[in-house]
Amino acid sequence: MRIYKTKNYDEMSKKAAQIIAAQIELKPECVLGLATGSTPVGTYQNLVKWYQEGSLDFSGVSSCNLDEYKGLSPENEQSYRYFMNHNLFDHVNIDKERTFVPNGLEEDSKQACEMHEQAIRALGGIDLQLLGLGRNGHIGFNEPADHFPKETHCVNLTESTIQANKRFFSDESEVPRQAYTMGIGTIMNAAKILVVVSGEDKADALCAMISGPITPDVPASILQLHPDVTVVADEAALSKLK
Ligand code: GLP
Repeated sequence: MRIYKTKNYDEMSKKAAQIIAAQIELKPECVLGLATGSTPVGTYQNLVKWYQEGSLDFSGVSSCNLDEYKGLSPENEQSYRYFMNHNLFDHVNIDKERTFVPNGLEEDSKQACEMHEQAIRALGGIDLQLLGLGRNGHIGFNEPADHFPKETHCVNLTESTIQANKRFFSDESEVPRQAYTMGIGTIMNAAKILVVVSGEDKADALCAMISGPITPDVPASILQLHPDVTVVADEAALSKLK
């Protein structure tokens, strides 16, 4: 595991965007695994800026997102499809037909999850997967559990995630209780993984991810077994690492 320590959120965002841009330069027809949440917003802003300046081309890029709330439509401002359009896809020359986010409106969970796995397979797998980190050590929406789920599946969100994510909704009751997420196996199958982490409230989770025991109780700890993981984290997030 490679760890880059940055001074702050802005530096973290720039470094992460440089790594993604390098991936696109190396392989213009690459498949990016993308993430939502507040942490990657600055990373996407840098990518949009470089595209607008003419130094980055998304025309060959395909993407697969980690997760989506079950029940939210693409037009719902809290859906992850809306987030991706708003923060990245609408501002760069990516072909939206080749951007895949689990279908939150598909009520049949099995069908929704199979479709997402199929989309990833059809693209030939993920070259670089971007991840944020939940305060309880979750990645995607893989919550602490007694096993590592293999494929895309439907999860019941934990109370701590509902509490953490309610800041984006006008009322806690509006936070969906279920989501579709890539499994740990889906994530671990990516050729490369890039984790972005910022802030002191993530310090315990990041410490457990990097140096704690590998356990489904801290889903991100499995990344210790992946051969190509890069962590870009700011000083505050790394403050608990010895
Ligand atoms: C959500 C997302 C995760 C994300 C996490 C942390 O639960 N499903 O993919 O990593 O939140 O979000 P934030 O970056 O806002 O702290």
